[in-house]
Amino acid sequence: MAITNEYRTRSGAVALRSFKAKGRPSAIAGMGVYAPENIITNFDLEKMMDTSDKWITERTGIHKRHIAAPGTTTFEVATKAARAALDAAGITAADLDMILVGTSSPDGPFPSVACRVQNELGASGAVAWDTLAACTSFVYGLSIADAYIATERADTVLVIGAEVLSRMLNYTNRGTAVIFGDGAGAAVLRPAPTGGGFKSWCLGSDGRGYAQVTCGNIEKGAYAAKDATPFIDMVGPDVFKFAVDIFIRQANEVCNTAGVALEDIDLWVPHQANFRIIDAAARRIGLPLDRVAINIDEYGNTSSASIPLALEEAIRKGRVKSGDHVLLAGFGSGLTWGACLMTWV
Ligand code: UT7
Repeated sequence: MAITNEYRTRSGAVALRSFKAKGRPSAIAGMGVYAPENIITNFDLEKMMDTSDKWITERTGIHKRHIAAPGTTTFEVATKAARAALDAAGITAADLDMILVGTSSPDGPFPSVACRVQNELGASGAVAWDTLAACTSFVYGLSIADAYIATERADTVLVIGAEVLSRMLNYTNRGTAVIFGDGAGAAVLRPAPTGGGFKSWCLGSDGRGYAQVTCGNIEKGAYAAKDATPFIDMVGPDVFKFAVDIFIRQANEVCNTAGVALEDIDLWVPHQANFRIIDAAARRIGLPLDRVAINIDEYGNTSSASIPLALEEAIRKGRVKSGDHVLLAGFGSGLTWGACLMTWV
Protein backbone atom coordinates (compact mmCIF):
# COMPACT_ATOMS: atom_id res chain seq x y z
CA MET A 1 0.00 0.00 0.00
CA ALA A 2 1.31 3.46 -0.92
CA ILE A 3 2.14 5.75 1.99
CA THR A 4 0.28 9.06 1.64
CA ASN A 5 1.33 12.26 3.37
CA GLU A 6 -1.96 12.49 5.27
CA TYR A 7 -2.66 10.95 8.61
CA ARG A 8 -6.20 10.61 9.89
CA THR A 9 -7.39 11.23 13.43
CA ARG A 10 -10.90 11.11 14.88
CA SER A 11 -10.99 14.87 14.24
CA GLY A 12 -10.05 14.62 10.55
CA ALA A 13 -7.07 14.48 8.24
CA VAL A 14 -3.78 16.32 8.65
CA ALA A 15 -1.38 16.84 5.75
CA LEU A 16 2.27 16.59 6.75
CA ARG A 17 4.57 19.49 5.87
CA SER A 18 8.16 18.90 4.94
CA PHE A 19 10.93 21.06 3.52
CA LYS A 20 14.40 20.72 2.11
CA ALA A 21 17.29 22.18 4.11
CA LYS A 22 18.31 25.53 2.59
CA GLY A 23 21.28 27.89 2.92
CA ARG A 24 24.49 26.92 4.71
CA PRO A 25 24.18 23.23 5.72
CA SER A 26 24.68 22.24 9.36
CA ALA A 27 25.77 18.94 10.88
CA ILE A 28 26.28 17.31 14.25
CA ALA A 29 29.89 17.86 15.32
CA GLY A 30 29.77 15.99 18.64
CA MET A 31 27.38 14.43 21.12
CA GLY A 32 27.25 13.73 24.85
CA VAL A 33 24.83 11.97 27.17
CA TYR A 34 24.12 11.49 30.83
CA ALA A 35 21.95 8.96 32.64
CA PRO A 36 21.56 8.87 36.44
CA GLU A 37 23.31 5.92 38.12
CA ASN A 38 20.26 4.70 40.03
CA ILE A 39 18.37 2.02 38.09
CA ILE A 40 14.84 0.77 38.72
CA THR A 41 14.15 -2.62 37.11
CA ASN A 42 10.79 -4.12 36.23
CA PHE A 43 11.30 -6.47 39.19
CA ASP A 44 11.67 -3.44 41.49
CA LEU A 45 8.38 -2.09 40.12
CA GLU A 46 6.67 -5.44 40.79
CA LYS A 47 7.28 -4.74 44.49
CA MET A 48 5.85 -1.21 44.23
CA MET A 49 2.61 -1.72 42.25
CA ASP A 50 0.32 -4.22 40.56
CA THR A 51 2.51 -4.95 37.54
CA SER A 52 4.91 -7.62 36.27
CA ASP A 53 8.19 -7.89 34.41
CA LYS A 54 6.34 -10.01 31.85
CA TRP A 55 3.70 -7.35 31.14
CA ILE A 56 6.19 -4.48 30.90
CA THR A 57 8.63 -6.44 28.73
CA GLU A 58 6.00 -7.79 26.36
CA ARG A 59 3.97 -4.57 26.03
CA THR A 60 6.82 -2.05 25.93
CA GLY A 61 10.26 -3.69 25.57
CA ILE A 62 11.44 -1.85 28.69
CA HIS A 63 13.59 -3.77 31.22
CA LYS A 64 14.85 -0.91 33.36
CA ARG A 65 15.02 2.86 33.58
CA HIS A 66 17.52 5.30 35.15
CA ILE A 67 15.93 7.39 37.87
CA ALA A 68 17.54 10.54 39.29
CA ALA A 69 18.17 10.85 43.03
CA PRO A 70 15.51 12.96 44.80
CA GLY A 71 16.31 16.65 44.48
CA THR A 72 18.10 16.29 41.14
CA THR A 73 17.26 19.13 38.76
CA THR A 74 16.85 19.05 35.00
CA PHE A 75 19.54 21.70 34.52
CA GLU A 76 22.04 19.43 36.34
CA VAL A 77 21.47 16.44 34.05
CA ALA A 78 21.38 18.75 31.03
CA THR A 79 24.73 20.31 31.99
CA LYS A 80 26.39 16.88 32.35
CA ALA A 81 25.33 15.89 28.82
CA ALA A 82 26.32 19.35 27.54
CA ARG A 83 29.88 19.12 28.90
CA ALA A 84 30.33 15.71 27.26
CA ALA A 85 29.03 17.09 23.93
CA LEU A 86 31.44 20.06 24.03
CA ASP A 87 34.34 17.64 24.65
CA ALA A 88 33.22 15.35 21.81
CA ALA A 89 33.00 18.32 19.43
CA GLY A 90 36.39 19.64 20.58
CA ILE A 91 35.04 23.08 21.49
CA THR A 92 34.68 25.17 24.63
CA ALA A 93 31.68 26.98 26.09
CA ALA A 94 33.11 30.25 24.78
CA ASP A 95 32.49 29.00 21.22
CA LEU A 96 28.72 28.67 21.74
CA ASP A 97 26.40 31.14 20.00
CA MET A 98 23.21 29.48 21.18
CA ILE A 99 21.96 26.93 23.73
CA LEU A 100 18.58 25.28 23.17
CA VAL A 101 17.12 22.95 25.77
CA GLY A 102 14.16 20.73 24.95
CA THR A 103 12.41 19.45 28.05
CA SER A 104 9.05 18.25 29.30
CA SER A 105 10.21 18.53 32.89
CA PRO A 106 11.65 22.02 33.45
CA ASP A 107 12.66 22.90 37.00
CA GLY A 108 10.03 25.68 37.03
CA PRO A 109 8.25 28.10 34.69
CA PHE A 110 11.33 30.35 34.64
CA PRO A 111 14.25 30.92 34.42
CA SER A 112 14.73 28.52 31.51
CA VAL A 113 16.78 25.37 31.95
CA ALA A 114 18.90 26.67 29.06
CA CYS A 115 19.91 29.80 31.03
CA ARG A 116 20.89 27.63 34.01
CA VAL A 117 23.02 25.45 31.69
CA GLN A 118 24.56 28.59 30.18
CA ASN A 119 25.48 29.78 33.67
CA GLU A 120 26.97 26.40 34.65
CA LEU A 121 29.05 26.22 31.46
CA GLY A 122 30.06 29.89 31.56
CA ALA A 123 28.89 30.28 27.95
CA SER A 124 28.51 34.03 28.22
CA GLY A 125 28.37 34.64 24.46
CA ALA A 126 25.36 32.43 23.86
CA VAL A 127 21.64 33.17 23.64
CA ALA A 128 19.75 30.48 25.56
CA TRP A 129 16.15 29.31 25.67
CA ASP A 130 13.93 26.25 26.12
CA THR A 131 11.64 24.64 23.56
CA LEU A 132 8.63 22.72 24.81
CA ALA A 133 7.32 20.14 22.36
CA ALA A 134 7.35 17.20 24.80
CA CYS A 135 9.10 14.15 23.30
CA THR A 136 9.58 16.00 19.98
CA SER A 137 11.52 18.84 21.65
CA PHE A 138 14.98 17.62 20.63
CA VAL A 139 14.09 17.48 16.92
CA TYR A 140 12.39 20.90 17.12
CA GLY A 141 15.59 22.21 18.76
CA LEU A 142 17.75 20.73 15.99
CA SER A 143 15.54 22.42 13.40
CA ILE A 144 15.95 25.83 15.07
CA ALA A 145 19.72 25.33 15.29
CA ASP A 146 19.87 24.32 11.63
CA ALA A 147 17.84 27.39 10.61
CA TYR A 148 20.17 29.76 12.49
CA ILE A 149 23.29 28.14 11.06
CA ALA A 150 21.74 28.06 7.56
CA THR A 151 21.10 31.80 7.68
CA GLU A 152 24.53 32.51 9.20
CA ARG A 153 23.04 33.99 12.39
CA ALA A 154 24.93 31.38 14.42
CA ASP A 155 27.94 29.14 13.85
CA THR A 156 27.88 26.87 16.88
CA VAL A 157 24.71 25.74 18.61
CA LEU A 158 24.26 23.35 21.53
CA VAL A 159 20.96 21.42 21.43
CA ILE A 160 19.98 19.46 24.54
CA GLY A 161 17.14 17.10 25.43
CA ALA A 162 16.98 16.68 29.22
CA GLU A 163 14.44 15.18 31.59
CA VAL A 164 13.81 14.40 35.23
CA LEU A 165 10.40 12.88 34.51
CA SER A 166 10.41 10.75 37.65
CA ARG A 167 9.25 13.87 39.54
CA MET A 168 6.05 13.72 37.47
CA LEU A 169 5.26 10.03 37.92
CA ASN A 170 2.41 8.78 40.04
CA TYR A 171 3.53 5.38 41.34
CA THR A 172 -0.10 4.36 41.80
CA ASN A 173 -0.69 4.74 38.02
CA ARG A 174 0.82 1.60 36.49
CA GLY A 175 -0.10 2.81 32.99
CA THR A 176 2.54 5.55 33.11
CA ALA A 177 4.87 4.85 36.06
CA VAL A 178 6.50 1.86 34.35
CA ILE A 179 7.15 3.70 31.08
CA PHE A 180 9.27 6.77 31.81
CA GLY A 181 12.86 7.37 32.89
CA ASP A 182 15.36 10.20 33.40
CA GLY A 183 18.37 11.23 31.31
CA ALA A 184 19.86 13.78 28.96
CA GLY A 185 21.55 13.99 25.59
CA ALA A 186 23.20 16.88 23.77
CA ALA A 187 24.51 17.66 20.30
CA VAL A 188 26.77 20.45 19.03
CA LEU A 189 25.77 21.68 15.57
CA ARG A 190 28.29 23.43 13.31
CA PRO A 191 28.44 24.27 9.58
CA ALA A 192 28.73 20.96 7.71
CA PRO A 193 31.64 19.82 5.58
CA THR A 194 30.78 19.68 1.86
CA GLY A 195 28.06 17.13 1.06
CA GLY A 196 27.17 16.36 4.67
CA GLY A 197 24.61 17.47 7.21
CA PHE A 198 20.84 17.90 7.43
CA LYS A 199 18.97 17.42 4.15
CA SER A 200 15.25 17.60 4.94
CA TRP A 201 12.77 18.19 7.72
CA CYS A 202 9.17 17.29 8.54
CA LEU A 203 7.69 19.11 11.54
CA GLY A 204 4.08 19.32 12.63
CA SER A 205 1.60 19.74 15.44
CA ASP A 206 -2.04 18.79 15.86
CA GLY A 207 -3.43 20.62 18.88
CA ARG A 208 -6.74 18.81 18.53
CA GLY A 209 -4.96 15.93 20.25
CA TYR A 210 -3.87 18.06 23.23
CA ALA A 211 -5.61 15.79 25.77
CA GLN A 212 -3.89 12.57 24.71
CA VAL A 213 -0.68 13.02 26.74
CA THR A 214 -0.87 15.50 29.59
CA CYS A 215 0.72 16.59 32.83
CA GLY A 216 -1.43 18.09 35.56
CA ASN A 217 -4.84 19.73 35.30
CA ILE A 218 -4.86 20.92 31.70
CA GLU A 219 -8.41 22.31 31.74
CA LYS A 220 -8.03 24.64 34.74
CA GLY A 221 -4.26 25.03 34.48
CA ALA A 222 -1.91 23.89 37.22
CA TYR A 223 -2.01 27.21 39.10
CA ALA A 224 -5.79 27.58 39.31
CA ALA A 225 -6.08 23.90 40.24
CA LYS A 226 -3.41 24.40 42.94
CA ASP A 227 -1.80 21.34 41.41
CA ALA A 228 1.33 20.95 43.56
CA THR A 229 2.46 17.70 41.93
CA PRO A 230 1.24 17.48 38.34
CA PHE A 231 1.44 13.88 37.10
CA ILE A 232 1.83 12.49 33.60
CA ASP A 233 -1.29 10.89 32.16
CA MET A 234 -2.04 9.52 28.71
CA VAL A 235 -4.51 7.69 26.53
CA GLY A 236 -1.96 4.99 25.74
CA PRO A 237 -3.71 3.02 22.96
CA ASP A 238 -4.66 6.21 21.03
CA VAL A 239 -1.12 7.55 21.23
CA PHE A 240 0.18 4.15 20.14
CA LYS A 241 -1.83 4.26 16.88
CA PHE A 242 -0.89 7.90 16.22
CA ALA A 243 2.78 7.10 16.83
CA VAL A 244 3.03 4.18 14.39
CA ASP A 245 1.20 6.17 11.72
CA ILE A 246 3.21 9.35 12.11
CA PHE A 247 6.55 7.47 12.16
CA ILE A 248 5.73 5.87 8.81
CA ARG A 249 4.53 9.07 7.15
CA GLN A 250 7.37 11.22 8.48
CA ALA A 251 9.97 8.76 7.19
CA ASN A 252 8.31 8.82 3.79
CA GLU A 253 8.10 12.63 3.78
CA VAL A 254 11.71 13.41 4.68
CA CYS A 255 13.01 10.76 2.28
CA ASN A 256 10.87 12.02 -0.62
CA THR A 257 11.88 15.61 0.07
CA ALA A 258 15.58 14.75 0.21
CA GLY A 259 15.40 12.45 -2.82
CA VAL A 260 16.54 9.42 -0.81
CA ALA A 261 14.78 6.04 -1.09
CA LEU A 262 13.32 4.64 2.14
CA GLU A 263 15.42 1.49 1.70
CA ASP A 264 18.57 3.63 1.61
CA ILE A 265 18.17 4.77 5.23
CA ASP A 266 21.24 3.39 7.01
CA LEU A 267 20.08 4.19 10.54
CA TRP A 268 16.68 5.20 11.87
CA VAL A 269 16.75 6.73 15.35
CA PRO A 270 13.13 6.87 16.56
CA HIS A 271 11.81 8.33 19.80
CA GLN A 272 11.96 5.43 22.27
CA ALA A 273 8.36 5.26 23.52
CA ASN A 274 7.55 1.59 23.05
CA PHE A 275 9.44 -1.22 21.28
CA ARG A 276 6.19 -2.37 19.67
CA ILE A 277 5.61 1.09 18.15
CA ILE A 278 9.13 1.10 16.69
CA ASP A 279 8.86 -2.49 15.45
CA ALA A 280 5.46 -1.96 13.78
CA ALA A 281 6.63 1.21 12.03
CA ALA A 282 9.96 -0.32 10.94
CA ARG A 283 8.08 -3.21 9.29
CA ARG A 284 5.84 -0.81 7.37
CA ILE A 285 8.77 1.40 6.36
CA GLY A 286 10.62 -1.75 5.28
CA LEU A 287 13.62 -1.30 7.57
CA PRO A 288 15.23 -4.34 9.23
CA LEU A 289 15.81 -3.80 12.96
CA ASP A 290 19.60 -3.91 12.49
CA ARG A 291 19.17 -0.48 10.87
CA VAL A 292 17.16 0.90 13.80
CA ALA A 293 18.66 2.36 16.99
CA ILE A 294 16.81 0.87 19.95
CA ASN A 295 17.78 1.23 23.60
CA ILE A 296 14.38 1.52 25.26
CA ASP A 297 15.19 -1.68 27.19
CA GLU A 298 17.85 0.24 29.14
CA TYR A 299 16.28 3.69 29.58
CA GLY A 300 12.50 3.48 29.11
CA ASN A 301 10.89 6.55 27.59
CA THR A 302 13.05 9.58 28.41
CA SER A 303 10.95 12.00 26.32
CA SER A 304 13.16 14.69 24.75
CA ALA A 305 16.34 12.84 25.81
CA SER A 306 15.48 9.57 24.06
CA ILE A 307 16.65 10.41 20.52
CA PRO A 308 20.04 11.82 21.56
CA LEU A 309 20.56 8.91 24.01
CA ALA A 310 19.93 6.42 21.18
CA LEU A 311 21.93 8.31 18.53
CA GLU A 312 24.96 8.81 20.79
CA GLU A 313 24.94 5.10 21.66
CA ALA A 314 24.83 4.20 17.96
CA ILE A 315 27.79 6.50 17.26
CA ARG A 316 29.74 5.06 20.21
CA LYS A 317 29.09 1.51 18.99
CA GLY A 318 30.38 2.37 15.50
CA ARG A 319 26.98 1.94 13.85
CA VAL A 320 27.24 5.25 11.93
CA LYS A 321 29.84 6.01 9.27
CA SER A 322 30.54 8.99 7.04
CA GLY A 323 28.06 9.21 4.15
CA ASP A 324 25.31 7.26 5.93
CA HIS A 325 21.71 8.46 5.68
CA VAL A 326 20.53 8.90 9.25
CA LEU A 327 16.85 9.54 10.03
CA LEU A 328 15.74 10.96 13.38
CA ALA A 329 12.02 10.89 14.20
CA GLY A 330 10.02 11.97 17.22
CA PHE A 331 6.41 12.39 18.31
CA GLY A 332 4.80 13.43 21.53
CA SER A 333 2.32 15.41 23.55
CA GLY A 334 0.67 18.34 21.81
CA LEU A 335 0.33 16.37 19.62
CA THR A 336 3.65 17.09 17.98
CA TRP A 337 5.97 15.32 15.58
CA GLY A 338 9.30 16.02 13.92
CA ALA A 339 11.78 14.17 11.72
CA CYS A 340 14.96 14.99 9.84
CA LEU A 341 17.21 13.21 7.41
CA MET A 342 20.95 13.86 7.40
CA THR A 343 24.07 12.63 5.66
CA TRP A 344 26.49 11.71 8.42
CA VAL A 345 29.84 13.53 8.23
O1 UT7 B 1 6.27 9.52 24.61
C1 UT7 B 1 4.99 9.80 25.13
C2 UT7 B 1 3.95 9.22 24.28
N1 UT7 B 1 3.41 8.02 24.83
C3 UT7 B 1 3.45 6.87 24.16
O2 UT7 B 1 4.03 6.75 23.13
C4 UT7 B 1 2.67 5.72 24.72
C5 UT7 B 1 2.03 4.91 23.62
N2 UT7 B 1 1.24 3.83 24.18
C6 UT7 B 1 1.80 2.71 24.66
O3 UT7 B 1 3.00 2.53 24.61
C7 UT7 B 1 0.87 1.65 25.21
O4 UT7 B 1 -0.46 2.02 24.96
C8 UT7 B 1 1.09 1.40 26.72
C9 UT7 B 1 2.42 0.71 26.97
C10 UT7 B 1 1.05 2.71 27.50
C11 UT7 B 1 -0.02 0.50 27.25
O5 UT7 B 1 -0.01 -0.72 26.54
P1 UT7 B 1 -1.35 -1.31 25.89
O6 UT7 B 1 -0.98 -2.58 25.28
O7 UT7 B 1 -1.92 -0.23 24.99
O8 UT7 B 1 -2.26 -1.58 27.14
P2 UT7 B 1 -3.67 -0.92 27.54
O9 UT7 B 1 -3.50 0.47 28.01
O10 UT7 B 1 -4.66 -1.18 26.44
O11 UT7 B 1 -4.06 -1.84 28.78
C12 UT7 B 1 -4.26 -3.25 28.63
C13 UT7 B 1 -4.38 -3.87 30.02
C14 UT7 B 1 -5.37 -3.15 30.93
O12 UT7 B 1 -6.01 -4.12 31.72
P3 UT7 B 1 -7.47 -4.67 31.34
O13 UT7 B 1 -8.37 -3.45 31.33
O14 UT7 B 1 -7.33 -5.29 29.98
O15 UT7 B 1 -7.75 -5.64 32.43
C15 UT7 B 1 -4.49 -2.30 31.80
O16 UT7 B 1 -5.08 -2.01 33.05
O17 UT7 B 1 -3.11 -3.81 30.69
C16 UT7 B 1 -3.29 -3.22 31.98
N3 UT7 B 1 -2.06 -2.50 32.33
C17 UT7 B 1 -1.07 -3.08 33.02
N4 UT7 B 1 -0.92 -4.32 33.54
C18 UT7 B 1 0.22 -4.59 34.19
C19 UT7 B 1 -1.71 -1.22 32.04
N5 UT7 B 1 -0.50 -0.96 32.55
C20 UT7 B 1 -0.08 -2.11 33.17
C21 UT7 B 1 1.09 -2.45 33.86
N6 UT7 B 1 1.20 -3.70 34.36
N7 UT7 B 1 2.11 -1.58 34.05
